[in-house]
Amino acid sequence: MSTQVILPRIMQVGEGASHELPDVLNSLGCCRPLIITDKMMVELGYAGRIQASLSQQGIASHVFSDTVPEPTVGSIQAGVSEVQAGNYDCIIALGGGSPIDSAKAISILGKHGGHMRDYKFPRVVIEAGLPIIAVPTTAGTGSEVTRFTIITDEDTDEKMLCVGIGFMPVAALVDYTLTLSLPPRITADTGIDALTHAIEAYVSKKASPYSDSQALSAMRLLGPNLRRAYHNGNDKAAREAMMLGSTLAGVAFSNASVALVHGMSRPIGAAFHVPHGLSNAMLLPSVTRFSIPAAPARYAECARAMGVANVNDSDEQANNMLLQELYALNEELQVPTLAEYGIAQHAFFDLMPTMAEQALASGSPNNNPRVPGVGEIVEIYRQLW
Ligand SMILES: [Fe+2]
Repeated sequence: MSTQVILPRIMQVGEGASHELPDVLNSLGCCRPLIITDKMMVELGYAGRIQASLSQQGIASHVFSDTVPEPTVGSIQAGVSEVQAGNYDCIIALGGGSPIDSAKAISILGKHGGHMRDYKFPRVVIEAGLPIIAVPTTAGTGSEVTRFTIITDEDTDEKMLCVGIGFMPVAALVDYTLTLSLPPRITADTGIDALTHAIEAYVSKKASPYSDSQALSAMRLLGPNLRRAYHNGNDKAAREAMMLGSTLAGVAFSNASVALVHGMSRPIGAAFHVPHGLSNAMLLPSVTRFSIPAAPARYAECARAMGVANVNDSDEQANNMLLQELYALNEELQVPTLAEYGIAQHAFFDLMPTMAEQALASGSPNNNPRVPGVGEIVEIYRQLW
C-alpha cells in the first residue's frame, strides 16, 4: 500500500533561515505579501525586521497583527476582510501555531468566502488559498508543515479541525534563532506538543514507513533536548534540535494524523481555555497508559528513540520507562494539573460527556491504537483529577 505525502514546496531550514524570506518570495513569484502575526511579534520587533528586510529588496508589505491565541471564527474575520480588500498575492505567517493557523484560515476564507464551519472535517479542503510562507517562532506546533488548522467556533465552543492540502504552506522557513527568547513556559508547552505529535504519529493507525522515519527522528531530537531548552533558553544546540524535531514531528503527523491525546485535548482547550500544548501535556501520561496495551512494541520504540530505554530493555521495561518519563517530564516542566490551572472540578465533570462526544467527532481517537468509546474517554478525563 502506498501513502500520499504532502509537504511545503520550499523548506529553508537552519540558523538564519528567516533571512532568506525575500529570496523565497522571489522564487515563488510573489511580491505583495500580507504579514499575519500577533501583537507580541510586533512588540518584540520580529515583524518590523521582516518588513525591513523585504523593503530592502523593494517589496512593500502590510502587517495584520490582530490574531489571538487559540484562534476563533470571530478573531479571523478582520484578517479575511483585509485579504478581500487588499491586493495581496501571498501571506507571510509569522509566529507560533496560533498566527499560522489563523493565516491558513484567512487564506482560504479570504479567497473562497463562506463560513469556517463549511470547511471543517470531514470535508477535505483542496481549494488553493493565497500562498502561505510560514515562519514559525516556536518549536512547536509544526503548523508550518501541516495540512491542518484548528479554529474554535465560539458559538458552540468547539475546536474545529480543518484538513486538506489547501491549508499546507507553500514554504516554511524554519529558523531556530527565532526561538532563543521564548520564555520557559512556552518552551515547555510547545515542546511537549511537538513530542506528542511525534508519539501520536508513530502509534497512529495511519502511520507509514515514511511518517515513522520522521516521527522517530523527531523523538530522537526532542527527547534529550526538551529539558535543556526549558532550563536554558540560550542553549543553541538544544534550541536547534527542538526546532528541527518540531518540524519533523509536524511532517510526521500531517501525514499520519494525531490520535487520542489531541482528540481529547481540543475540547479541554475550547471549554476551559487551556493552551493547546498544556492540555496535551496534562493528557499525555494517562492516554499513553490507556493505549500501551494495544501497541506495546510501538510505544517501546518511542521510549528508545527518546533515550529513556535502550535496545537491551524488553518492551515491557521500555513502556514502564516511557510512562515514568512522561510523568517526570510534566513535573520538571511544571505542568499544572487541571485543579492547579484553576478549573472547577464540578464544571469539568459536568462537561465530560460533551467533551467525549466532541473528541470522537473530531476523528482523531479513531487513529489511536486502542480506540475508546465515550465511557472510556470520560474515564480518562476523570483520571486527570
Ligand atoms: Fe498539537
